[in-house]
Amino acid sequence: MIRLDKYLADTGLGTRSKVKQIIKKKMIKVNGVTVSDSDFKVDTEKDIVICGEKTVKYNKYEYFMLNKPAGVVSAVTDNKDKTVIDIINVPKRRDLFPVGRLDKDTEGLLIITNDGMLANRLLSPNHHVKKRYFAKVTGNVLGSVAELFKEGVDIGDDKLTAPAELEILNTYDENGTTYTDTEIVITEGRYHQIKRMFLAAGHEVVYLKRLQMGPVFLDESLKTGEFRTLTEEETDKLYQCIK
Ligand code: URA
Repeated sequence: MIRLDKYLADTGLGTRSKVKQIIKKKMIKVNGVTVSDSDFKVDTEKDIVICGEKTVKYNKYEYFMLNKPAGVVSAVTDNKDKTVIDIINVPKRRDLFPVGRLDKDTEGLLIITNDGMLANRLLSPNHHVKKRYFAKVTGNVLGSVAELFKEGVDIGDDKLTAPAELEILNTYDENGTTYTDTEIVITEGRYHQIKRMFLAAGHEVVYLKRLQMGPVFLDESLKTGEFRTLTEEETDKLYQCIK
């Protein structure tokens, strides 16, 4: 049971003060009866709430996929930088947070939700959720690096990294420097993990983009900085993968 004003604000109808005005104006009916008290308690599972002519649907959880741009921090609030939550500029609940972190200069798939249980499980090392990245790195990456990543890399932590898959895509020269495009799949989420793994092998990551998290792939139609809600199929698959 939650307060009627919170219920309405959570559905994105407006800020808490705006929905209080709507309630005062007697525009809200709960189970067919007009309610003008913001403090009225609503059962989110059973009660039918109508605003004017429209039924107000309450979803306890929300799930978004963001194609994170570089220059934005993976936090809820920040004194200095724009955050990934600032980008989700739809009427939204105040309890959204990013599932894990991408570095400020990393782009790509970031899931944003208010579902703490799902987030914890997706991030837990016990669930080994695969995260696939595209990484452009300096130098000519040899097959021996793929072997090393498979074995586990000493990046200065207590333990070697868990086995990671590295696919070497293309090596080329750009303005006199050699680069290699790669795809890498890791199952952990250590601080700067991919950058540190490549550094341990003598390569510097110059561009990093997440393409996949578990069963969810970055929607290619999303430009950097764009987002959309996850489909029901995507959220179902996320739930399946953390069982
Ligand atoms: N590894 C990194 O080094 N940075 C990221 O943002 C994600 C994985």
